[in-house]
Amino acid sequence: MVFYFSGTGNSRWVAETVAAAFQDTLVPVGTYFAGKQPPAPVFDVAEHEKVGFVFPVHSWGIPPIIGRFIDRLQLNGYNGQQIYCIMTCGDECGYADRMLRKHLARHGWICRHVYAVRMPNNYICMKGFGTDPDELAASKLAQARKDLPRIIECIRTDSPADIYCKSKHWAFLKSRIIYPLFVKGAMSDKPFYSTEACISCGLCAKVCPVDNITMENGRPRWHGNCTQCLACIHRCPVTAIEYGKASIGQKRYCFKG
Ligand SMILES: Cc1cc2nc3c(=O)[nH]c(=O)nc-3n(C[C@H](O)[C@H](O)[C@H](O)COP(=O)(O)O)c2cc1C
Ligand code: SF4
Ligand code: SF4
Repeated sequence: MVFYFSGTGNSRWVAETVAAAFQDTLVPVGTYFAGKQPPAPVFDVAEHEKVGFVFPVHSWGIPPIIGRFIDRLQLNGYNGQQIYCIMTCGDECGYADRMLRKHLARHGWICRHVYAVRMPNNYICMKGFGTDPDELAASKLAQARKDLPRIIECIRTDSPADIYCKSKHWAFLKSRIIYPLFVKGAMSDKPFYSTEACISCGLCAKVCPVDNITMENGRPRWHGNCTQCLACIHRCPVTAIEYGKASIGQKRYCFKG
């Protein structure tokens, strides 16, 4: 089975490709945090089944929802089956691999394979960050299409390889200092708002993986349970969602296949 989390479709594409290669089931992590009484993440693992995790890198770390999911995850029948992880990132991952391993280790689980695939950047909620120019996005996607089959082959043959977007500089500062500050202070949904361009289509509420948006009087309302996946802001068909001033004028992005 492949557990995945994705805001703008990069990680979803990776998860779907891997699941198709191994004829595995796709499980969206958001479901286990949505609604008033989310189901418990309890699964049966078959004897030769692989267990995969696919998600984006957030602030040089793992999205907190992934850590919480793994902490609560119960795998009935788990007896050392192969665990792998593929992250997607815009540029670099810092120590996201170590964070993932730490959560798995709480169950005594060991991840045999951790890979990262560089894909178009979707972070537009802070000054100084933004989506990639079209040419760069296209070249990242072309490279990702070459890298993913290699990664799948490594997992299939159980031959781990070093395919990870390491941070060239300051990994400790990024992952150990900035990441906790980001999780504490920059994941709020308070800065989200809809503009007069909103056509009340309700898509933002529909795409939120954790049901954090409801429609009220034809406009979206955020409820304080955001994971910063950015599905809502990127997928609005008329660019009617902004995040404070940071997102104004920023190009939106969604994986198109
Ligand atoms: C909140 C947030 C933080 C991010 N932080 C990083 C980062 O530290 N390093 C990086 O390379 N990309 C970062 N990104 C970019 C995403 O990891 C990248 O675009 C990813 O492929 C998006 O995957 P998705 O489409 O499945 O959501 C960040 C994106 C978001 C939304
Ligand atoms: S997706 Fe955009 S247009 Fe549709 S309801 Fe949400 S803000 Fe309004
Ligand atoms: S409110 Fe928007 S950014 Fe937050 S989890 Fe939902 S879709 Fe993602």
